[in-house]
Amino acid sequence: FSDFLTDTFHRQHDYLRISVTERCNLRCLYCMPEEGVPLSPSRDMLTTPEIVMLSSVFVSQGVTKIRLTGGEPTVRRDILPLMHQLGDLRSHGLKEICLTTNGISLHRKLDSMVEAGLTGVNLSLDTLDPFQFQIMTRRKGFDAVQRSIDRILELNRLGAGIKLKVNCVVMRGLNDSEILPFVEMTRDKDLEVRFIEYMPFDGNRWSKGKMLGYAEMLDRIRERHPGLEKVQDHPNDTSKTWRVPGFAGHIGFITSMTHNFCGTCNRLRVTSDGNLKVCLFGNAEVSLRDILRKTNAGEPIDEETFEAMKKVLEMDRSRQGLTTEDKRMLGIAPNEAELLE
Ligand code: GTP
Ligand code: 5AD
Ligand code: SF4
Repeated sequence: FSDFLTDTFHRQHDYLRISVTERCNLRCLYCMPEEGVPLSPSRDMLTTPEIVMLSSVFVSQGVTKIRLTGGEPTVRRDILPLMHQLGDLRSHGLKEICLTTNGISLHRKLDSMVEAGLTGVNLSLDTLDPFQFQIMTRRKGFDAVQRSIDRILELNRLGAGIKLKVNCVVMRGLNDSEILPFVEMTRDKDLEVRFIEYMPFDGNRWSKGKMLGYAEMLDRIRERHPGLEKVQDHPNDTSKTWRVPGFAGHIGFITSMTHNFCGTCNRLRVTSDGNLKVCLFGNAEVSLRDILRKTNAGEPIDEETFEAMKKVLEMDRSRQGLTTEDKRMLGIAPNEAELLE
């Protein structure tokens, strides 16, 4: 493994998340204001050749998984050619190509993406009620999302093997009454429903009262399914996995607020304007785009540029998740592990 991707905590960063657009066709309450987010000029965005170039450098150094995120990645005009070119990196060691999407227009692009090499879809869906969908996303589109889910399951029946995770951000008073219906979804469907603790982001009007923690979610499910059992997690998973015995699928919990998982985090992030970021909560950013654009566009990266990129990656990637102090300020009880520290 290249030490290029190993940090001072000996974490090996073999998972690269690339945001391919800031734009989105929904306006989820917890994520964006009604008017959307301010967009950067398009010349600041990474072009497809640039994304492919960066990806190939990271893959050559040991990255085995790439996830495209946004905004909403499917609204990027050339998302299909981009995915096809990433697919070509499979012969250089890339094993997984994943997408985080809201599913609105996925059903139209899915088959081509699977052909390109797509291996996993994390699909955001916070409610199973079309009316509530319109409240939570401020847009219509519930049926389109269902179509995307159905198509993934259909392709899987034909042997496509796409790993499907449904991301559900739980907000008290909005969709917390739907936890059990979401669990029910895993009865016959081979997918994982992941309940996500609501996190504060700039201006999303987070309040502790609206957040439902891991323990409370588990209690509510156990009341109905006392046999709920823990499933062994993969080493770098952000979620804690469980299942109802006899059900086809799994359920998971992303506990960013109550139990952080920084110690096992293996992700590198590239923002849509080309900044490398190692932590969701971190502010340290370095422009890979500027490094790339110093060389001739489209040319393979020369030794000097490669060295400059290496320096960027060598910067101290300290754990920067929510600290005990952050939690105190937000009024969240520190978890047991931290109390023992
Ligand atoms: P896989 O593990 O590849 O399935 O992806 P993921 O769960 O990391 O990614 P996804 O895009 O589905 O994001 C799910 C949730 O995890 C979102 O709410 C993210 O904000 C959150 N998340 C992703 N990475 C991190 C991280 O490093 N730290 C924290 N605290 N939250 C994260
Ligand atoms: N808290 C928790 N999860 C969030 N997401 C977006 N905003 C928040 C938030 N404030 C989730 C989306 C998507 C994933 C990439 O991040 O629902 O599934
Ligand atoms: Fe934000 Fe995703 Fe919702 Fe779009 S679909 S508004 S990016 S959470």
